[in-house]
Amino acid sequence: QAKEVPMTKSVVLADPRGFCAGVDRAILTVQTILKAAESSGDSRADGLPPVYVRRQIVHNRHVVEELASQGAVFVQELAEIPDEAAAAGIPVVFSAHGVSPEVKHEAERRGMHVVDATCPLVGKVHREVLRFVREGYEIVYIGHKGHDEAVGVVGESPEHVHLIEHESDVESLDFTPDVKLVLLSQTTLSVDETAGTIAALKARFPWIEEPPSSDICYATSNRQAAVKLVARQSDCVVIVGSANSSNSVRLMEVAQEGLGERGRAYRVDDAGELDPSWFEDVESVGVSSGASVPDELVSGVIEALRGWGFTGIRSVETIKENMHFVLPPQVRALVR
Ligand code: F3S
Repeated sequence: QAKEVPMTKSVVLADPRGFCAGVDRAILTVQTILKAAESSGDSRADGLPPVYVRRQIVHNRHVVEELASQGAVFVQELAEIPDEAAAAGIPVVFSAHGVSPEVKHEAERRGMHVVDATCPLVGKVHREVLRFVREGYEIVYIGHKGHDEAVGVVGESPEHVHLIEHESDVESLDFTPDVKLVLLSQTTLSVDETAGTIAALKARFPWIEEPPSSDICYATSNRQAAVKLVARQSDCVVIVGSANSSNSVRLMEVAQEGLGERGRAYRVDDAGELDPSWFEDVESVGVSSGASVPDELVSGVIEALRGWGFTGIRSVETIKENMHFVLPPQVRALVR
């Protein structure tokens, strides 16, 4: 009688996943400043930290806690930074999500030493806003209200940038055909969902123009494409990423879409948030992570899954990424 071979329960790992070039650059910016302060051996008698960072440098709790433990001080607003810090030349880093001109002006007015770690691909959208406004356009911007990136972009020209979140918001817009219109978007949206909103915009305003290249960044599209494939080969999907990370939440939604009725997609900050009951009656678990997530957090999740019997590991690779951004100029000077 043939012996029954037990099926190996497995993990299906999305590739690419995790850190993108913009996040890498932003974290390295803060790390380089911290290292330079440490190696100068100049322990500050004035009680000021080696660096301030406005907002979470990237939307990941673990990354922020790690940098804070090395001495970086995170603030919500520049108002929390004392004037002595500017006088002492303590750098203030702007996060990868970018800031509105208002914040830049405040820093300038207070003589702060700004190091701008805004991702160059977010910077591209800021420049598009300025260019189109200069050329007399009204801008329909698809983004998430209140997200740091959207706040920064809208802040470039609040009177000409009209933020909408979903396809259903298109109805609320009203432009006559003599108004020049262009659509821009946040870099971390769902590619599929945005396609629906764009179609609705084009149906209502057929003359609306698009930027020369999509604003949804390469990292967002690549991670979504990979997780879509992974979801098709899995019974459930775990996305590692923080709740305030736009691209991580979108990954979870894309995964859920791919799974359909077959299973559920979950988002966790780390392995500690996994619930073993999610994996009962599951043969294969898809795993991916947002663009702000260090890979050791993914390793922790894989390790926990292994403990619950998911011993096989398979990678689904959709594309090789080789994007790299140079550090901001003020930081390059420190490395030299
Ligand atoms: Fe930049 Fe896209 Fe990452 S906009 S920070 S490369 S998710």
